[in-house]
Amino acid sequence: MLKINLGGCASFVKEDDYSKYVEKALGAFDTLEAETGAGNDFLGWKHLPTTTPESLVADCEAIRDEWKAKGVNLVIVIGIGGSYLGAKCALEALSHSFARHLSSARDSMEVVFAGQNLSEEYISELMDLAAERNVAAVVISKSGTTTEPAVAFRQIKNHIEEKYGKAEAAKRIVAVTDARRGALKSLSTQEGYRTFVIEDNVGGRFSVLTPVGILPIVLAGFDIRKMLAGAAEMEKITAERSAENPAVQYAAMRNLLYDQGKKIEILVSYNPKLQYLGEWWKQLYGESEGKDGKGIFPASVNFTTDLHSMGQYIQDGERILMETVVSVENSNRSMTIVDDPQNLDGLNFLTGKHMEHCNAMAELGTKLAHIDGGVPQLSVSIERIDEYNLGSLFYFFEKACGISAYILGVNPFNQPGVEAYKKNMFALLGKPGYEAQAEELKKRLG
Ligand code: PA5
Repeated sequence: MLKINLGGCASFVKEDDYSKYVEKALGAFDTLEAETGAGNDFLGWKHLPTTTPESLVADCEAIRDEWKAKGVNLVIVIGIGGSYLGAKCALEALSHSFARHLSSARDSMEVVFAGQNLSEEYISELMDLAAERNVAAVVISKSGTTTEPAVAFRQIKNHIEEKYGKAEAAKRIVAVTDARRGALKSLSTQEGYRTFVIEDNVGGRFSVLTPVGILPIVLAGFDIRKMLAGAAEMEKITAERSAENPAVQYAAMRNLLYDQGKKIEILVSYNPKLQYLGEWWKQLYGESEGKDGKGIFPASVNFTTDLHSMGQYIQDGERILMETVVSVENSNRSMTIVDDPQNLDGLNFLTGKHMEHCNAMAELGTKLAHIDGGVPQLSVSIERIDEYNLGSLFYFFEKACGISAYILGVNPFNQPGVEAYKKNMFALLGKPGYEAQAEELKKRLG
């Protein structure tokens, strides 16, 4: 079960102050539970773990089995932001680190991602891979109008249609989008694609437990039922109105530290498989809290790798940092360090010890060093990296995010700031309707 430990903050905060912030967090919790706060039409994510129908999982499994039977060995999942990061995080965390290099990979259905950038090299190189493979695609966009996935989908749709013909392409493309609106919905209806719905009341960054995450995770061969079970346990635990509720504790402490000048929170992991947990978490907290001139800046690092790049700043730079460590109690693999009779590296004192023991000591040593250096540490621990624990992490961070943003006094469920770059990009690309803005930008650019 997920556990939170705030011991690494004890020397930075007064107990009375923490109690006050717990009161604030409980007030925010009440608002979230009563569904009376800003953005309350976007709370569908709260009960996804316990309300997702078995038929949805079965439909995803049917597509997986059908594509496997056709010999599909490359599924391209197209999406960006909340329509990408949850699935990417899950697949990175659960897959063998070298899956694509193993000989067994030849028989499996590999899932790769597109539409999360506008790089010509990326998409061209993906086409090189597609040319060699038996391909299917999942295109995900809630709005159905986002430029990056729409451009990537054009290329991939064209590839699939040229390779298999239009009728077969319609069986190899699945769309995940709004029930009624958007270009992707219209296209899917016209082309006869199977579609999954993202409900109106679930925003992109809270959508990992909708078909946005469920379908890619199932296609990659992972057990979504276990993930939903882990999330359901967290749904229950974080529904308790209590100072012991881990989501309340996390939200309270990070807001207290923020108000004491810790403006940046770094999500830390000690397993490279969790790198994309950091990416998913950054979007969740950055887009939910960074508005109205407020918000903790979310950053992420992977240790011990980044101790050799970011370690100096964290230990010794400007004291505006707090860190949240996602600790993993047990490794899924077992390997001890071998003896070297020559011992030229002087490391025989480690002979017979588990690699993970060294990792744990690095984690402990870093914790103490960072606390000494003025960086308070929150810790969230899970038993191991698997579907169940990942599900509980997803739900925990979502619930804590809602509470935290209400303490901060912002609407967690909108993202007005992301429109600014889009307007400029459309004007610069010559999109009809943006002529006046294009003129203005040209003058600015000289
Ligand atoms: O959290 C969000 O709402 C955004 O990050 C979206 O997920 C992202 O912009 C992609 O949008 P869409 O799914 O509409 O293509």
